Order: sequence, then C-alpha cells, then structure tokens
Amino acid sequence: MQRICLEWRCRGLRTALVPTMGFFHAGHLSLMRWARANADRVVVSLFVNPTQFGPGEDLDAYPRDRGRDESLARGAGIDLLFSPLREAMYEQDHSTLITVEDLSGLLCGRSRPTHFRGVATVVAKLFNLCLPSVAVFGEKDWQQLTVVRRMVRDLNVPVHIQGLPIVREQDGLAMSSRNAYLTTEERAQAPAIFNGLLRIRDMVEEGETRGETLVEAYRTWIAGNAPLGRIDYVEIVSPTTLEPLPEIDGPAMIAVAVHLGRARLIDNLMLQGRT
Ligand code: PAF
Repeated sequence: MQRICLEWRCRGLRTALVPTMGFFHAGHLSLMRWARANADRVVVSLFVNPTQFGPGEDLDAYPRDRGRDESLARGAGIDLLFSPLREAMYEQDHSTLITVEDLSGLLCGRSRPTHFRGVATVVAKLFNLCLPSVAVFGEKDWQQLTVVRRMVRDLNVPVHIQGLPIVREQDGLAMSSRNAYLTTEERAQAPAIFNGLLRIRDMVEEGETRGETLVEAYRTWIAGNAPLGRIDYVEIVSPTTLEPLPEIDGPAMIAVAVHLGRARLIDNLMLQGRT
C-alpha cells in the first residue's frame, strides 16, 4: 500500500482515504462518492479493527459481506479496496497505542473505555499506509470524527479530515451496518431514536435551554415510543469539546446511544449553531 500510494503522491496525485469496517450502506457510498469527486485517487479501507472492540462486544458477529462490498465499491468508482489481514495490521507484540485523552472518555467512552484508543491507533496506521491528502468520515460517529480531528491536530498529521452528513433511511433511522442486527419489531421502533432528536430540537427552537430538561424529555420520548430501547446515554454537549452543557448558550448538539436488542445504535443532531 505504501509503495503504491507513495508513487501516486510523487506524481502529484491527491489520494482520498475512506476508512471503513465494510458491510457498506448508502452512508459509506456517499463518502466514496465525495472522495471520487474531490481527489485523484480513492482508497477505501475495509478492516474490522479488533482493537476498537471491547471484551464481550460484537467483533466476531460484526456483519461482513466481502463480495457485495467489492461490487458496491467498484460501482462507486474507487481505485483501490485495501483489505488487510488482521495479522498484517497487528504484529503479535504490537504495543503502540494512541490515546486522545479527555475526548475519548466522554459519551461512548463511558461504556466503551478502550474504543477510541483502538480507533485512533488504526486510523493513524491507515494514514501511514495510504498516505492520503484527505480522509473522509461520517458525522454519525461524531465523537470518532472529533477524536480523529484532535489526533491530527495534536500530532501534526498532514491529512485533511472531511466530515459528511449522516445518511438516513426514509423513516429517519441513521444508516449503520449494525441496523442488520434489528428484528422486525425492533426495526419498527428504531425511527423513534431520530424522531426523539427532532422533538428535542423543536423544544430548543421553542426556547428551552436547560440541558437536564431536554435529556429527561428524550428519555420520556424513548420510553413511550421505543419501549424495547434501553438508553446507554443521552447528553446535550458542546460539538467541539463533547462536554455536557447544563445550559444551551452557544453551539450545542444532542448525542445518544440506545440499545435495541443486539444493536447499540448511536445518533446525534445539532441543536444550535455549527462548529
Ligand atoms: O467508523 C468506522 O467504521 C471505524 O471506526 C473506522 C474509522 C474505519 C476505524 O476502524
């Protein structure tokens, strides 16, 4: 990979990297299309990264369909699908991990304490392997995007990070490879996750500014509209620091994680301002 991408770079070509764990949906394809339109070469990495899964999480169950992914990626006009073996990415005595302090312990980091360390490490490795000018991430994983941006800033990594809007199903459910885990009954309740976010934004537009009131309203919404759902967290936070906001008086977003059966689904919505 390094040899191919270095050669492109020496020829003055700009590479866009789309890091993924595969099982592509329209969200992934929108990242690939953006990359195709904005770079000379497009590399999509497909690697289910073991270091970002905690004990008891869904590493082995994570949905995979290599053949379908290949044909979708080809259809999106990418140049190279990079799908390394686990043993090639991590030597047995791999011992270097990147921790983005503070940001990694908030929101998803509370229930997944080693997750963002795994993400930052694999993303740094992919940057070193693919030497991209730009890397493209979806905004559904807002915390991931924030962590990667902080890492790039702190370590002077010469890669531009491009975030792109969440792609949703017609009923509002954010697209995710993990939606495949939902049963019919769970899938019917899943749109409540996003509809609840819209409800909270309405409340903010009507003048509500108290974080706690908004959080309680979201909890009540889920209890009433997705009784199978179990909230991991719901927080009103600063989009840049991800710290909880007791009072909205500037840029603010709502971020949630909800367990629905085997799936743990995340979503977010900007409530006020944009960073
Ligand atoms: O968002 C994902 O699919 C993964 O976290 C990423 C960025 C590919 C790192 O493994």
